[in-house]
Amino acid sequence: MELRHVIGNRRSIRYLDPERPVEIEKIQYMLEAARLASHFGNNNAARALVIHRATASEEQLASLPSPVGGFQMKLAPVFILWYVETNAMDEAGLRLRELVQAGALGYGPDKHKELEETLVPLFNEIGEFLKGPGMVDMDLGQALAQATLMAFELGLGACCQGSDDWSKVERAFGLPESSRIVVVQTVGYPLEDSKAGGQRPRLPFEQLFQLNNYDTPFPRAQNVIAQLEADQLLQQQAPLPGREEEIEAIREKYDLPGSGMV
Ligand SMILES: Cc1cc2nc3c(=O)[nH]c(=O)nc-3n(C[C@H](O)[C@H](O)[C@H](O)COP(=O)(O)O)c2cc1C
Repeated sequence: MELRHVIGNRRSIRYLDPERPVEIEKIQYMLEAARLASHFGNNNAARALVIHRATASEEQLASLPSPVGGFQMKLAPVFILWYVETNAMDEAGLRLRELVQAGALGYGPDKHKELEETLVPLFNEIGEFLKGPGMVDMDLGQALAQATLMAFELGLGACCQGSDDWSKVERAFGLPESSRIVVVQTVGYPLEDSKAGGQRPRLPFEQLFQLNNYDTPFPRAQNVIAQLEADQLLQQQAPLPGREEEIEAIREKYDLPGSGMV
C-alpha cells in the first residue's frame, strides 16, 4: 500500500474489537516507526508506555480517562500512553555531539569548536524552557503520527484520547515526575469498515495554508487534487451511506452505554 493511500485511510477509529488480540510485533512496528521520527536537536524525549488490557491491573485500567467518547476505553485491547520525558533535555549536549559525529549537522574544520562554544551552551541555557509544552510536544506528535500510519498499514485502527489531568494515570503506571503524558491512544482491530464512514470534514485548504503572505491562500491545483483522488489520499467525505446502521449494529452488539459522546 502506498504512503498516500495509508494517509488517505487514516482516520480515528473509535470502534475497536475487544475480542481480537493485537500481535505484540505489530505494536513493535508502531514503536519502531515512532523512534525514527524527527525531534529537535535529536532530543529523543518522545516516549511511549504500552498497556495490554488483558494483563494490566483493574486499577491501572480504571485510571485511564476519556472525557470524549469514553466507551472507547471499554473496547480497546491496547492503549499507548504517549509521553514526554523532559529529562531528555538534560542530555541535549550529548545528542548534538552525536549529530555532528554522524555527519548530519555542521561542516568544515570549525564545526566542533562552534558546537562546544555556541550550540551546546545555548541548549543548556534554554534546557528548562525546552522541557515545557511546545517543541517537545510536537516531537511526540510526529512520533505518534508515524506510529499511527504504521498501525493503519498493518490493518489496525487507533484513536487519540485527551485529558486535562494525567496525574492519576502517571501514578498508576509508575511514570517518574519528570515525565508528562500528552495523550493516550487506543489501538486494536477495527470493528468498522475500513472507510469508517468516510473522510472526516476539514476546513477548506485555502483557509488553512498561505503562500508568502497571510492574505494569499496557497494555490490549490486541480491536477494535484485529481491525482490524489486517484491515489485515494482524498476520498469521499463522511458520512457515507449506511454509516448510521453500521454504528447502530456495533452499539447493540457490544452494549455501548449512552450516546457515545462522553
Ligand atoms: C491530541 C488529540 C486528542 C484527541 N482526543 C480525543 C478524545 O478524547 N476522544 C475522542 O473520541 N477523540 C479524540 N481525538 C480524535 C479527534 O476528535 C479526531 O482526530 C478528529 O475528529 C478528526 O477526525 P479523524 O482523526 O478521523 O480525521 C483526539 C485527537 C487528537 C489529535
